[in-house]
Amino acid sequence: TRMALKITVIGTGYLGATHAAAMAELGFEVLGLDVVPEKIELLSSGRVPMYEPGLEELLARHVAGIEGSSGRLRFTTSWEEVGAFGDVHFVCVNTPQKHGEYACDMSYVDAAFASLAKVVREGALVVGKSTVPVGSAERLADVLPEGVELAWNPEFLREGFAVNDTLHPDRIVVGVRGERAEKTLREVYAGPVGEGSPFVVTDFPTAELVKTSANSFLATKISFINAMAEVCEAAGGDVAKLAEAIGHDDRIGAKFLRAGIGFGGGCLPKDIRAFMARAGELGADQALTFLREIDSINMRRRGQMVEMAREALGGSTFLGRRVAVLGATFKPDSDDVRDSPALNVAGQIHLQGGQVTVYDPKGMDNARRLFPTLGYADSALEAVRGADVVLHLTEWREFRELDPAALAEVAASRVILDGRNALDAERWRAAGWTYRAMGRPRA
Ligand code: UDX
Repeated sequence: TRMALKITVIGTGYLGATHAAAMAELGFEVLGLDVVPEKIELLSSGRVPMYEPGLEELLARHVAGIEGSSGRLRFTTSWEEVGAFGDVHFVCVNTPQKHGEYACDMSYVDAAFASLAKVVREGALVVGKSTVPVGSAERLADVLPEGVELAWNPEFLREGFAVNDTLHPDRIVVGVRGERAEKTLREVYAGPVGEGSPFVVTDFPTAELVKTSANSFLATKISFINAMAEVCEAAGGDVAKLAEAIGHDDRIGAKFLRAGIGFGGGCLPKDIRAFMARAGELGADQALTFLREIDSINMRRRGQMVEMAREALGGSTFLGRRVAVLGATFKPDSDDVRDSPALNVAGQIHLQGGQVTVYDPKGMDNARRLFPTLGYADSALEAVRGADVVLHLTEWREFRELDPAALAEVAASRVILDGRNALDAERWRAAGWTYRAMGRPRA
């Protein structure tokens, strides 16, 4: 059955490409727009410029022109087409951190609204999904012509789980000013809401704040456990056991308590910084000074990993020493290397004269582009060959399934430092390795 509402998605990055495919999966006719023609070409053939499990399969089910597809999903670079087509327009462009500043860069959002305003039909609904500083929706509503409503509908998808998080969101939050926008969005999300996703209706500023406060809370949880790891290191405690034990308290919860080299990626770091910057503008900076500490605990972890590696090599210099780095992406099941703690650590060691060889299951191309001077290998085994120390910095399943005995045969020295607290210490030790992890006692 075809749904009556016609949907457009503006901006086809992680968020937009996934949202467009999910809307087609829910039965809507969808038109995706991007200003980059190469992206539109790629998407029109059912492919995406990033690694996201399940996304290409979902596109193949719906992109027009692909054999056996529903044909409900098309892509364009034409604003006129978007304006004529859409009853509901989702704005999904990104808001990166400004160069050298905490604030986020709103220029893509502003440009999208300016272009849309010229072509949008009267009676259509515009829905912002980008992560924006609180107050943006109110300002952007004025950019749209009379008779066009705005709603704000933040997105909580995680990279690596984007398809599932979009089709089965754990909540849908909509900031609206009128009942018509709410009614339209209830129609759009009838599928997931029918399957049990809570639908939270609120005003513009609250909807915007839900997103930034959720990410701030997650960042706080990670930095909290990393702070406990520092104390464990000083006191001889075991942060993994500590996390397990406090996680049994369901007011605390077991998730997001994995200590290690900290958070990275395109969201958490820039979102907490943009949040601090915005609070400052609003005169509420005192409320968020703790986020500065969350950020610095997080950034400190990277340096501590470097020191742990230096110590494992005898304590003085990296000069001429071979360091194998397993993992380049900011998290597993993604090829995203934006603000990746793993590459940051690799880069620091390289700058101090270490001979670094990196291997990552999916992030090699992006890593090479960002850090062209590091060494790269085609497999974990090749990265470890001849290494004086091995650093496990992104917790891919592939690394958990490595055979420590096989690696022991090619390494120059059997020392592995687990920057993600994710490997089975006993397995590695049984194969003759010295295994060390952040915040845990040495065996
Ligand atoms: C995050 C939010 O989870 C998501 O809801 C929001 O929409 C976008 O930002 P994402 O950036 O995809 O999603 O990654 P996430 O899974 O949250 O991980 C972020 C970082 O935290 C990664 O670098 C990860 O390695 C790190 N992390 C996560 C930890 O160090 N410890 C943990 O316990 C959990």
